[in-house]
Amino acid sequence: MSTDTWSPTSWRDRPVQQQPQWPDAAALDAALKTLAGYPPLVFAGEARALTAHLAEVAAGRAFLLQAGDCAESFHDFAADKIRDKLKVILQMAVVLTYAAGVPVVKVGRIAGQYGKPRSSDTETVDGVTLPSFRGHNVNSEEFSAAARHPDPQRMLTGYHQSSATLNLVRAFTKGGFADLARVQAWNQEFLASSAEGQRYEEIASGIERALRFMKACGIDTSSEAQLHQVDFFTSHEALLLGYEEALTRRDSLTGDFYDCSAHFVWIGERTRQLDGAHVEFLRGVRNPIGVKLGPTATPEDVLGLCEALNPQRTPGRLTVITRMGATKVRSTLPPLLEAVRDSGHPVAWVCDPMHGNTFTSGTGRKTRDLDDVMSEVTGFFAAHGEVGTWPGGVHVELTGDDVTECLGGSSRILDQDLDARYETICDPRLNARQGLDLAFRVSELLGGN
Ligand code: PEP
Ligand code: CO
Repeated sequence: MSTDTWSPTSWRDRPVQQQPQWPDAAALDAALKTLAGYPPLVFAGEARALTAHLAEVAAGRAFLLQAGDCAESFHDFAADKIRDKLKVILQMAVVLTYAAGVPVVKVGRIAGQYGKPRSSDTETVDGVTLPSFRGHNVNSEEFSAAARHPDPQRMLTGYHQSSATLNLVRAFTKGGFADLARVQAWNQEFLASSAEGQRYEEIASGIERALRFMKACGIDTSSEAQLHQVDFFTSHEALLLGYEEALTRRDSLTGDFYDCSAHFVWIGERTRQLDGAHVEFLRGVRNPIGVKLGPTATPEDVLGLCEALNPQRTPGRLTVITRMGATKVRSTLPPLLEAVRDSGHPVAWVCDPMHGNTFTSGTGRKTRDLDDVMSEVTGFFAAHGEVGTWPGGVHVELTGDDVTECLGGSSRILDQDLDARYETICDPRLNARQGLDLAFRVSELLGGN
């Protein structure tokens, strides 16, 4: 597999998993053609900047926080929802940076996370079988034939919603909202009264005191962009390859191809076959990319992926996101870490403690328990400690809203509470309190307090 035989369309000759059964080929082609004429959502230079940040993660000098919805929704398209998601991610990043003293690279599962892989092509309810929900770029989650009908026009809506979301994210992170002098303002009302919210307040006042102190010493803090702006990057699973291909452009500076649908794109656990279409597509774009690995992954799998996706061994190019499950991480992760360590491949290792810990609660809700989530993160740190590699980050599904989708946390969400505000259209997400709780616990694992 050499890059000379690669083109943005070469994936089309490979076996491809998890694509919708688009009913009308002509309508699909027309939608993709329209998309191919639209402007890029991100720029190659931004993707290169993220690669450089992730190289620091791979080298053990920075930590990645990747977070956001399991599936973004076309119905949740409002400024306050986007702002609140951003707030909790920024809060978590502040906790990690302040308590553990490591630079935190911030990447959202945002502005494009509209395609979902599914374990079954169809879903049956009360004897009625319909196509599975595959993300809002494909169909809708309601259980009706009309809603589940794959419609390629939705990808155009997905593009426009990504564009508007990204515009708002850029405004929030560069236009004053993310100013460190405003850390206190990121604490939402429902959070402020909780134990995590209080703990966060202490950090926020510490930062404000430090800024006042520097000012009093005569240091001009107003000219330091780092104090007033945040670098925030977008990411999603590169699942719908027609969509990704249509947004792939040749960079005029370097001549390289970039997938301009997001800064970072990843290959899911279900589509990481070495000879498959997803590996073929992603190996040829120069963005920083990720690949998810579940508990069945072997050292040969991960080495094969490293060679296929990062043959030049560029630091920051490849992030491996492991999602083993709390009970398996301690036995399944170390052999993979050892194999990669011994091969010399530079990899940023990140823990997704969500997808290996999903179960159906007694009341029939798909959920996750924060104790299992933390137990996987703890096992991830232990495995890296054992092998001598750097536990480079966490990848979590969360929302800024006060939902009740995952169990536990200091607000003690119980099985019978799940129905109260269960709003996700796909997997259960941590709420803002649980996200902050996780950040405090991770900062302790990183050696902070
Ligand atoms: C996801 O990230 O939402 C997902 C489907 O993950 P995985 O590929 O790890 O199952
Ligand atoms: Co998910």
